[in-house]
Amino acid sequence: LQALAARTRPEFLIGAAVALGPLASDLDYAREFVGNFGALTPENAMKPQFLSPRQGVYTFEEADALLDVAESKQLAVHGHTIAFSEAMPSWMQELPSGSEAEREESAEALIDYVTTVVTHFRGRLASLDVVNEPFDVDQGTGLQQNIWYRVFGPDYPAVVSRAVHEADPDVAQFINENGADVPGPRQDALLELALETNARGGHIEGVGLQGHVYDLGTDAIPVEALTETLTRFDDAGLRVRISENDVTDEEGTRVQAEQYAAVLSTCFRSPACVSYTTWGVDNRYNWWVDDDGELQQGHDFVFEDGKPTPALEAMRRALGG
Ligand code: G3I
Repeated sequence: LQALAARTRPEFLIGAAVALGPLASDLDYAREFVGNFGALTPENAMKPQFLSPRQGVYTFEEADALLDVAESKQLAVHGHTIAFSEAMPSWMQELPSGSEAEREESAEALIDYVTTVVTHFRGRLASLDVVNEPFDVDQGTGLQQNIWYRVFGPDYPAVVSRAVHEADPDVAQFINENGADVPGPRQDALLELALETNARGGHIEGVGLQGHVYDLGTDAIPVEALTETLTRFDDAGLRVRISENDVTDEEGTRVQAEQYAAVLSTCFRSPACVSYTTWGVDNRYNWWVDDDGELQQGHDFVFEDGKPTPALEAMRRALGG
């Protein structure tokens, strides 16, 4: 996929989310990955809960190992993520914020986290989700009142963005959100948040539109709506990453393959859209686990048991292959 894309847009990145385990231990999988993708997003390894289990303690080993693999295979790395309600260690979630003195002390701890992490990875990340899923779940348009919000107030994305910029002025910063792939109130809120963050001294280059399609019947992403979306962000001077596209389908149908190809090709044709990432590669290593932690073997990815799916073929065709 990356090689096909490079024929017309050499700068355009096609990536996938990945964990270190399969990439380092399963040669066939590594070949599938490296043979198709030019970029990777660590699926979990750079989330705060994995990087800092205790305050002031950092466990960079897995993320560093992933970066070593990426560099040896010449894959660009998208960092994921700094401020994310769902993936914080408990020390971070539990920082006190009741009084001004507490907020000051907690602010120091949070900024220290940002600075330590971004300085550690400096020069090795092409881009980074500085804020992930800022809005209330279930299509909300208000900011989640997480620890970042409680300590810094509604301007917290600008505070985080400035701290990231200070530690690594070259990393391209993104705000990443789900359910904002097509025009509507949530997309309006995301656009406004990105612009407002920059108006307050932030350094946001663009937004990540996740593109999770859980039900092809109700939340497929129509080409026209995505095209309109990309034009909107472009007009506002913002770049777009399709950051986590995956299309759930119990059967592995032609409609699923067409949806994958439609999202990729719409992004690829828009100068505002700088990269496309799919959230997983092969059903053998997927993120769909049930409440008991059992792997759900769906047909949701571009490889299935090591073999290319119709989705991968459709994506190749969409890129002119
Ligand atoms: O590594 C621990 C393991 O030590 C522990 O024994 C086990 C018990 O629960 O948990 C393991 O961690 C799990 C981790 O995946 C790694 O497998 C977490 O519980 C589990 O919550 C985590 O799920 C991830 C989820 O984000 C939550 O952070 C998924 O893999 C990951 O695909 C998913 O990705 C998110 C993006 O970051 C943001 N957008 C939505 C996307 C899908 O939900």
